[in-house]
Amino acid sequence: MSIQNISVIGSGTMGNGIAHVFALYGYNVTLIDIKQEFLEKAIKTITGNLERQLKKEAITKEKMEQALANIKSSTDLTDAKNSDLIIEAATENFEIKKNIFKTLDDNCKADAILASNTSSISITEIAAITGRADKVIGMHFMNPVPVMKLIEVIRGLATSNDTYNKIKELSEKIDKIPVEVNDYPGFVSNRILLPMLNEAIYCVMEGVAEPEAIDNVMKLGMAHPMGPLTLADFIGLDVCLSIMEVLYNGLGDSKYRPCPLLKKMVAAGYLGRKTGKGFYDYSKK
Ligand code: CAA
Repeated sequence: MSIQNISVIGSGTMGNGIAHVFALYGYNVTLIDIKQEFLEKAIKTITGNLERQLKKEAITKEKMEQALANIKSSTDLTDAKNSDLIIEAATENFEIKKNIFKTLDDNCKADAILASNTSSISITEIAAITGRADKVIGMHFMNPVPVMKLIEVIRGLATSNDTYNKIKELSEKIDKIPVEVNDYPGFVSNRILLPMLNEAIYCVMEGVAEPEAIDNVMKLGMAHPMGPLTLADFIGLDVCLSIMEVLYNGLGDSKYRPCPLLKKMVAAGYLGRKTGKGFYDYSKK
């Protein structure tokens, strides 16, 4: 089976970025979400990001129009039934993912590959919900998806070599660089990144320095494109907290305890860019 028809479940930041990239590379994409308004917002975002690439002359007008024509949208999860690959990019909640994977397993073609863009939930556990654990795999894209080269490809305990090889080849066809990783809490990316962000939040809590100063240290001293607190706001503080909890519970080591200030900010609804307030104020931007 060659992969040509792809469904993306969830049209938020990651889902619309994944749909954008596959559509740009000529794949037929079905973007699925629970509400029509979410899909409309996603298509607007994709159009804006394609226009940004057009302005930078990274793509032609023709390519942009073709990419938009390659995307269909739907509020019915069973519209994934004819896809060769389904990439789930829904909310980071195991119960939600469980329902999605069960429905996909019951309705999709027997040889379809089911992938998850989860940033920290176990691929092995997700695979166990289905009757095709050998065809379940992690495809962890990075934000912003059209820009970042990495796809962390996560093998669950039962993922077959055939599934892995197909996903590796597909990732290379869309000009990404797949990196093979085994299924452990946080995989590699978030096991290393999130403790650094968490430590930066401890520095704020303990008054070691102001947020701008902490970010400047890492930007100017370590050549990071974004400081850790800007990046935490960009990822979403709720997502950061949930990844720290997965690391803490899954690895059982106190070094992964989420910073109390992170918990407090999430409880207050200060989730970063998406709510207009995090370590910085985005309400006027
Ligand atoms: N779609 C298309 N193109 C985009 C884009 C988008 N959404 N966002 C940015 N770009 C393009 C811009 O057009 C620009 O293109 P050129 O290089 O051709 O000029 C380029 O990306 C850089 O953008 P900007 O000039 O606007 O801004 P910048 O130089 O400050 O870069 C950034 C922005 C790429 C986001 C950069 O700050 C960066 O790399 N930040 C770190 C991002 C990061 O660490 N991501 C990983 C997060 S962790 C994660 O995703 C996993 C998880 O599970 C939590």
